[in-house]
Amino acid sequence: MAVTPWGPDFGRLARQDPELAGIILSELDRVAGGLQLIAAENFTSPAVLAALASPLANKYAEGYPGARHHGGCEVVDIAERTAQDRAKALFGASHANVQPHSGSSAVLAAYAALLRPGDTVLAMALPHGGHLTHGSPANFSGRWFHFIGYGVDPVTGLIDYEQLRGLARVHRPKAVVCGSISYPRHPDYAAFRAVADEVGAYLIADAAHPIGLVAGKAAPSPVPYADVVCATTHKVLRGPRGGMLLCGAELAERVDRAVFPFTQGGAQMHTVAAKAVAFGEAATPAFAAYARQVVANARTLAGGLAAEGLTVVTGGTDTHMITVDVSPLGLDGRAAKARCAAAGIILDTCALASATEPGGCVRGVRLGSAAVTTQGMGEGEMERIGALLAIALREEQSAPTTRGVRAEVRELAAAFPPCAR
Ligand SMILES: Cc1ncc(COP(=O)(O)O)c(C=O)c1O
Repeated sequence: MAVTPWGPDFGRLARQDPELAGIILSELDRVAGGLQLIAAENFTSPAVLAALASPLANKYAEGYPGARHHGGCEVVDIAERTAQDRAKALFGASHANVQPHSGSSAVLAAYAALLRPGDTVLAMALPHGGHLTHGSPANFSGRWFHFIGYGVDPVTGLIDYEQLRGLARVHRPKAVVCGSISYPRHPDYAAFRAVADEVGAYLIADAAHPIGLVAGKAAPSPVPYADVVCATTHKVLRGPRGGMLLCGAELAERVDRAVFPFTQGGAQMHTVAAKAVAFGEAATPAFAAYARQVVANARTLAGGLAAEGLTVVTGGTDTHMITVDVSPLGLDGRAAKARCAAAGIILDTCALASATEPGGCVRGVRLGSAAVTTQGMGEGEMERIGALLAIALREEQSAPTTRGVRAEVRELAAAFPPCAR
């Protein structure tokens, strides 16, 4: 049986439910046999997994520490206060809500705290890198609010702050949202704040992606600028799947009531405890070194891809994320993703706005360095991955070189087990 990163209890599961154990082991094999470059993924530590699998999973705890609907919450109250205190200290925030079940739940709660249905919100347009919760018609956000989309300059790929300011002046939004699923550069939080102030809008930072780099002091923090910061805990931050909200004391009550009872029921206390573990890990010098390495690795990979002649959007990255325009290769994002997957390199497609094709078409792929860095890979491995990616993107799946790439990918992955050390 494969060695699992989450300890001896797996043996019990395997005996009781071999079918499910087999499925879990297959996923472990899938992950261990390839390179995981999905920018939103990471490998949590065994300590985070242990908290997730703890008896706190059994506890019902509607409400907040000291003010619960359910009895018997005295212990989980301590866990939640610990998570709140660690989050506040880590991000220098006056208030932290650690209950959102996901990043989307955190964004929903931020809107619920600050907006009324029908309000106008200015956020990054989806074809330029906005998230579903930034106004997609398929999402609650697009149905309940009036979203106006700002974008990136089609040539540089950088946020067009002049356009942002112009749209804010015309549409007078109630909130400006700063955050993206694919923007590889640091947002200028001061510029966003200035635009919001000019039109009397709230500034909501959806820092789902950069929050882990912020924790490791490898990226600027939105906390001093935004009224509310929404985040996920499972990307670079390396915690359990979940969300978080940070804000000043004056909005604390509104934010808390927007999470519970407005948009959620009982908190998931095992996840809250696992968030506390992750915040504790993220406060260490080792995590700061990890965050710096994530950025160094992404920069090296971006440089390698550019040297291979690929079109790296914005010319590089400040973060864990890289986006590549694959259209010069005669591919769309989906075909590129499939070619890479055949070679064992797992990445996402992403929409790119350009001068010739104004959004909506998936011409890009998005890569991230968080997971491979957790595995212990460094710049040398990133150079190798860049070269392998370039071959995988250029060759048909059945070509002999792709089989060669697959074997090299397997060899590289085998040397770096998929878990936090
Ligand atoms: C910018 C942004 N906001 C929100 C989310 C939503 O997070 P979740 O998938 O946990 O709901 C994501 C997820 O990738 C994201 O990138």
